This record gives sequence, structure tokens and C-alpha cells, in this order.
Amino acid sequence: MKIEIINFPKHGDERGALVVLEEQKSVPFDVKRIYYMFDTKKDVRRGFHAHKKLRQLAIPVQGHCKFLLDDGNESIEILVDNPTQGLMIEPMIWHEMFDYSENCVLMVLADDYYDESDYIRNYEEFKQRVTNG
Ligand code: TYD
Repeated sequence: MKIEIINFPKHGDERGALVVLEEQKSVPFDVKRIYYMFDTKKDVRRGFHAHKKLRQLAIPVQGHCKFLLDDGNESIEILVDNPTQGLMIEPMIWHEMFDYSENCVLMVLADDYYDESDYIRNYEEFKQRVTNG
């Protein structure tokens, strides 16, 4: 499975660091929605879905967590812990998030509005769709 990590330029000086996100530039799509998770409990696992069409970019603005990404054939665990890097979550990738650090703020940029009908929340259905197209 191809994992895409996007590196954002860091504008840092003695005052601190600054990262810029611009659609169709550092973010490879038009951004329709941004959401973020915080106060996530360490032993909680969430996600457990894939999207039919949605493209997303996840950025650990603060702290760290792990992602499980599964394309139906292969599953990979990846630590996201760098606020100058984003992890692309492409359509038809089953994903779970876990091992949140106490201070974790995970921001997600999405190329469309929230639409429950774009979600596949059942793993067996996901596998079946991957296999049968
Ligand atoms: P949920 O999909 O369960 O989060 P996760 O996949 O990270 O475990 O979303 C939690 C709640 O927030 C759920 O009631 C749906 C709602 N929600 C929105 O209303 N809009 C959104 O853009 C998102 C991502 C979630």
C-alpha cells in the first residue's frame, strides 16, 4: 500500500514555528471541511470506517497518535507525531486511530462536506467492495 506523507514547509525563527496550508498547493485538493479531535482518551480507538469518495489529510497539530490504514489487502500502522507533516487518507482506505497522547490535537482537512452516505462503517462490507469493485 502506498502511504502518502506530505511535508509542509516550516517557517521558523527565534519567535517560533509557523506552518501554512493552502488548497491545491500544500493540500492537494480543495478544502470544504476542517475538523479536529482533542480530549481523546488514551485507550480509545476510533475511526473504524472507510470513505467511498472523500479525500482527507490528517495533521497532528499537537501531540501524537497512531493510524491503522487498510486497503483491503494490506494493513499498516503509522505514528503521526509531526505538525509539519500530513497523512493522506484516500478513498476506500479503512482507518482507525489509537494510542492518542494526552495532549493530542488531530486536525483533518477534507475535500467535501460531512455525508454519512459516503461512509462504509462495516469492515466486511468494505472488504467486499474492495474485492468486487
Ligand atoms: P465519528 O465519525 O464517529 O468520528 P470517528 O470516525 O473519528 O470515530 O464522528 C463523531 C460524531 O461527529 C458523529 O456523531 C458524527 C459527527 N460528525 C459531524 O457531524 N461532522 C463531521 O464532519 C464529522 C467528521 C463528524
